[in-house]
Amino acid sequence: MEYLEPREGYDRFARDYRKEYTHLDSFDWEKARPLLWEAIDSVCNATSGSAAPALLDAGCGDGRVLGRVQRHLKERDFSAELWGWDLSPGMLKAAVARLEDGPRLVCRDIEDPVGGKEAPVQRFSLVWAFFVLVHLTDTTLFFSSLRAAMADKGTIILNNIPQKEGFQVKYAGKGFVIEYYHHEDAEITEALEKSGWTVDLTQAGEWSTLIKAHVTP
Ligand SMILES: C[S@@+](CC[C@H](N)C(=O)[O-])C[C@H]1O[C@@H](n2cnc3c(N)ncnc32)[C@H](O)[C@@H]1O
Repeated sequence: MEYLEPREGYDRFARDYRKEYTHLDSFDWEKARPLLWEAIDSVCNATSGSAAPALLDAGCGDGRVLGRVQRHLKERDFSAELWGWDLSPGMLKAAVARLEDGPRLVCRDIEDPVGGKEAPVQRFSLVWAFFVLVHLTDTTLFFSSLRAAMADKGTIILNNIPQKEGFQVKYAGKGFVIEYYHHEDAEITEALEKSGWTVDLTQAGEWSTLIKAHVTP
């Protein structure tokens, strides 16, 4: 079996990623969705009347979750500045094609320290990261880098799927696995606490664990 780094793997996978939505949703999206909507509503209500809050999808892929967030914001008549960061130009290209009202999509490695004009400091009120931790070698690096980009009281929501076997993808008739790393929930919560976050919730679902944390003042 061929093993590919995430950038190359997801570039190849991008065209067919959409076909995986039902499979991805089966990892407890029904539990993740209310948690995410509640956090978005809370941030938007808290900033109503002032500047629209900045919300970030870290490892946004082809915009699967960003598209849903856009619809939710519209339904609630909220406005927010939406951002998506991802390592794979192919996934971002797919996101541009499917998302209207253009969120700000930036090609970047989320393990790299935040810097540069496309990586605002102390900006985001809420960040979420779904199905991403599994590709990161050093989650402490990711959480520390993200911490610098967060506004006071910023919140993070993520899922962890302790994945002992890689996910096989087919491209041009050939199978490959995108490099992945196994992370236990305890390792994730420890990495968050070490990087300036306070964990509020660790909720084990049937297939995944949802974790919510806020910036430690
Ligand atoms: C399984 S997809 C999840 C996409 C999206 N979050 C979703 O829920 O559909 C994993 C995504 O993480 C991205 N990714 C993996 N490692 C990354 C890194 N170090 N920096 C930025 N993005 C990364 C991949 O390019 C891919 O788009």
